[in-house]
Order: sequence, then C-alpha cells, then structure tokens
Amino acid sequence: MCGIVAYVGPRKAQPILLEALSRLEYRGYDSAGLAILNGQGVEVRKKGGRIENLAKACLAKPILGESGISHTRWATHGAPTDANAHPHLDASGKLALVHNGVIENFLELKQKLTQAGHKFQSETDTEVLAHCLGEAYAKGKAKGEARLLEAVRSTLAQIQGTLGIAVIHSDLPGLIVGARRGSPLVIGVGQGENFLASDTQALAPYTNRVVILQDQEMVALHADRFDVSSPLGAQTQIKVEQIENGVTHSDKGPHAHFMLKEIMEQPRSIENAFRGRLDRDGATAKLGGLNMSSDQLRQVERISVIGCGTALHSGMVGKYLIESLAKIPVETQHASEFRYGDSPISPKTLFLAVSQSGETADTLGALREAKRRGYPCLGICNNVASSIARDSDGGVYMHAGPEIGVAATKSFTSQVMVFTLLGLLLGRLHQLSAAHGTEVLEAIAQLPGKIEQALRHSESIAKVAQKFSQSRSMLFLGRLANFPIALEGALKMKEITYLHAEGYPSAELKHGVIALIDKGTPTVLIATADGVYDKNLGSLQEIKARGGSVIAVGHEGDMKLKGLADALLEVPKTHELLQPILNVIPLQLFSYHTAVALGRDVDKPRNLAKSVTVE
Ligand code: F6R
Repeated sequence: MCGIVAYVGPRKAQPILLEALSRLEYRGYDSAGLAILNGQGVEVRKKGGRIENLAKACLAKPILGESGISHTRWATHGAPTDANAHPHLDASGKLALVHNGVIENFLELKQKLTQAGHKFQSETDTEVLAHCLGEAYAKGKAKGEARLLEAVRSTLAQIQGTLGIAVIHSDLPGLIVGARRGSPLVIGVGQGENFLASDTQALAPYTNRVVILQDQEMVALHADRFDVSSPLGAQTQIKVEQIENGVTHSDKGPHAHFMLKEIMEQPRSIENAFRGRLDRDGATAKLGGLNMSSDQLRQVERISVIGCGTALHSGMVGKYLIESLAKIPVETQHASEFRYGDSPISPKTLFLAVSQSGETADTLGALREAKRRGYPCLGICNNVASSIARDSDGGVYMHAGPEIGVAATKSFTSQVMVFTLLGLLLGRLHQLSAAHGTEVLEAIAQLPGKIEQALRHSESIAKVAQKFSQSRSMLFLGRLANFPIALEGALKMKEITYLHAEGYPSAELKHGVIALIDKGTPTVLIATADGVYDKNLGSLQEIKARGGSVIAVGHEGDMKLKGLADALLEVPKTHELLQPILNVIPLQLFSYHTAVALGRDVDKPRNLAKSVTVE
C-alpha cells in the first residue's frame, strides 16, 4: 500500500524514479510525486491521479538532479489531490519526505506544531511527520549526515504507527535516509548507485542485488555505500541477497490486462505450487520448509487459519480440505478480528497465516499476536522476501510468480493447492489410507491440464458476461467447499466491476436472501456434480420460481443443468476435493469479462491497492 522509490547515483534521477515508480503503481494509484535535489534545493512535482499525470508534469518541466525520492499513494489521510500527494516538505522547505504507513498520533503532533506557528499545506499525517523531522533537524547538535540520522531517530521515537520513509535534505546532497517500522523497505544495490524501494518489483530493471531492511532499521544511502543501523544507532550486519525479478510492463504478453494474463497462467502456477512436493511412494506430500518434525505435526490438534480477503477464502477451502483429509478441526478467522479479540485458543493449535504479498498489516499483526501467545505459526506466502515469511516459524511458498493485477487470481488457486498438500501430508500422518492419498496425488498431477481445459471456455464466458453486465446486483451461491468459492466469485465481481455482489451458502437463500431475487439480480450457482448436487438443483428451482436468472457453474456436458439454468459456465470434472480450484476459474473469467464489458480499469480498480500494509 503506497509505493516508495529513491535513487542516488551518477544518473539523472527523474526518469529512473518515474520508471521504477510505475512498477509499483499496483500498490496505490491515486496520486504520485517526486522530490529531487537540483543543486539549489529540493524541487517537488506532485499530481493527483495516476503516475502518467506526474510523468506529464515532469516532462513539461524536468527536474535535473542525481538524487531524489518518489511516491505513489493510496490515500489514508486526505483526498487524493495534488496537495495531499507526497513528497511533503518541512517548514524550512529544505527537507522532503515520502511515507508509507499511518501516523496514529498525528493530530496531537499537529496541534503542538500549529501552536508553535507551523502552517500545513495538506491534510496528511505525512506532512506532520515532515515538520517534526524538520524541527528535530533544526534543533540538532550533530553535523552533516549524523544530524539528519539523529533527527529521524528522535522523531520516530515520538511517533505511533507504522511507517516506511525516505528523506532528503538540501544541506546533504547525495544522501537519502530511509527507515522502517512495519512497512517494508528494500535497498537495491547497484554499481556506483543505490536505490531504496518499498518492494523489489521496482528494482527489476536496475539490479537484482538487494538488502531487505529489518523492522526498526534505518539506512544512510549514498551512491557508493550504505550504512544500516538499529534504532539505537548501532551498525547492523547486512546480507546482500540475489532475487529473481522478472516482470516488466510489457510482460502482459498477448493479454490486455495483467489480471487476464494471471488467470491464464494458472496451469503453470498450480504446477509450480506442487512441483517437487508429490511423494508417490509415500502417497503423501513433501513440504520442506515447515520446520516441524512428523511427531510435532502429529501432535497438532487444531488449526487456525488467519488471513484477509481472497487469502482468507483460500483458508476456508483449506478448512474443508484439511478436515476431510486429516480430520483435524480447522477454524478460519479474519486476521483483523483475531488480532484484537480475546477468544480462547485450544492448546496444541497450529496457526497458518496466508498471504500472497506477505505484507498485509492485519495478517502480520495477527501472526505476531499468535506467536506472542506462544503458538507455532506457519506462513503460506508468495513473496519470498516478505515480513510474514520472515516472521513465521516455517511455512510453504506458493511459487505463483509475481501477481500484478490488483484482483488476486493465480495466488488464490496456488494457496488452495498448498492447503491440499498440507491436508494430504497431515492426513497421511494420521489415518488417511495410501489408496486415498494416491487418488488425490493423481488428481493433483492432472490438474494443470484440467485448468487449461477450463480456460478454453473464456470466450463463451465473455458472452454470458456481456449479457449480464447491466445487472444491478449479483448473488453467488455454493455449498461446503464451494461456499468460499462463491464468496471469492462475489469478491472478484465487486472489486473490479463495482457491481454489488454477495456470496452465501446456497441453503441460506431461504433465510432472507431470497427477498433480493428479481429480474435485475441474477444468481451464480455453483452446482458441479457432487454429494449436494440435488440440493443445489433445488435452490435453482426456487430462484427460477421467483423470476430470477441463474448462471450455473457446472460440469461440461451437464445437459440437465444446461436445460434448467439461463447460462452454464462449464468446467471439467476432477477429484471432488480439487473441484473448487476448477470452479473458481469461470468465476474469475466472468468477473474479468464483466469488468471489460463495463469499461472498468481491470488492473487498477478504484479505491484499492494490491498490498494492504496499513490496518
Ligand atoms: C482480492 C484481494 C485481497 C487480498 C487481501 C490479502 O482480490 O486481492 O482481498 O487477498 O488484501 O492480501 P494478501 O494475500 O497479500 O495478504
């Protein structure tokens, strides 16, 4: 949430900042800005709206200089206007700051500063922080770089909240100071130049050597060196890591949007999630990074899954998988609810924190809370260098590759695959028979081909989407493991089309929801042939009897369903436990094509950001 990029080196900073920033636009895209030291002082450009607005302003009047900071914003305090865009200056106009996070005590600090005569140009918490830093710098006794570092250190001690920041000062050309508490920051190590960014994605064109700043650390970044220190000022050991950094903007390939590309990638991303993890001899799964022995795993009596949004939906499918395969009770909780709640937790509970980005503030907070209470916690993450991956006792990477589209798609199916593997592993440590384990393994191995088959229906789904795109609202219904798939279908529809959509267990229809059924409110009913197929057909009849339309997700060639529903979104058949992975695919495509039909900005839907690093 919000993206930061800073550069110091021999090259002109402006084009580098703009290019790197555009690679972070998925983190927030309501306004953007940059500040560069131009030889005389700090020069700032900032604009409401997308980075292209900023780029136009910069092209019209370029800023010349070799070190600078930049930011793409997801508004927390104040509307997305030019004035509220970052960077923000201190009272002297010599210090500029970009900030990712939230300053919780900013009103108190603002009041004190206002009483002391400070004037503010924006409604943001960040400008307050800039003024606090400027005050601390003005009062500082140290000289040069040490003075700015001391100002940052002492100011952060007064601040409550999360932050990742980058600061420049016109007295100190060639220096960028960065600090993190909660929000991630990464140093990009170049040759004779260095970078600072809130995620490695920004650095791909420039370097694959990075240093991940640890929580509470600060960095003094120069073109030829960088010094990392702890909050108390002690130098800290650094580890330069090599990362894989692939995606560029042209990597959409033949697809119009990253979301479509990522939907289409699922045969490969699923394969990457299970590659090397199928143990055919043992009829089980091998998961190397759990850091738990078989005995320790056998002693787990309950599992608690924490996550947000789509990641939590994957956990809800995971509950069904683990309970079916391993007979271990699983509860799923919104990370944001768990972290501040005081519900009792059974002893011998294992926590699983699920997060594509590995940076979601609520999931990270919940993970830390569970650890504080003494429970073992595993992470299920995509981003290898993320805070959740680092803070967990062990875990499973989903290896889905970078997900750029704001709406999560391939990460969801990879998460569900990881839960399948976990269920299989835990099941085989308990009572699951080798024959049953082998059946599931075989079905997993065939899944990429089945996903390809499901994706071939994209064009016919686009026609259905076109037909229903003018609906006022949509209901999504499913039972058992397909209930979270209904929730996920509704979430995708809401976030990229802005149509109102709700997901329910099918049988809840009669308990109030049915009142919503009318001509303008079609129902998407997941009705692949399983133990509750006839029940689902009952729900379908009830909807039809009240004049509602039904778009069914059903097996290819299900003529009965085809005859009853207004449209059929077809999927191939697989093992019943894996069917939800296939069933979500037509729903991803349905929301994608509906959004396109409505002319929405699919990869950057309004009000959203890809990774939610504030509470
Ligand atoms: C929906 C979506 C969000 C995320 C949620 C958690 O398409 O992307 O609901 O799933 O913000 O994000 P991660 O998985 O990064 O923790």
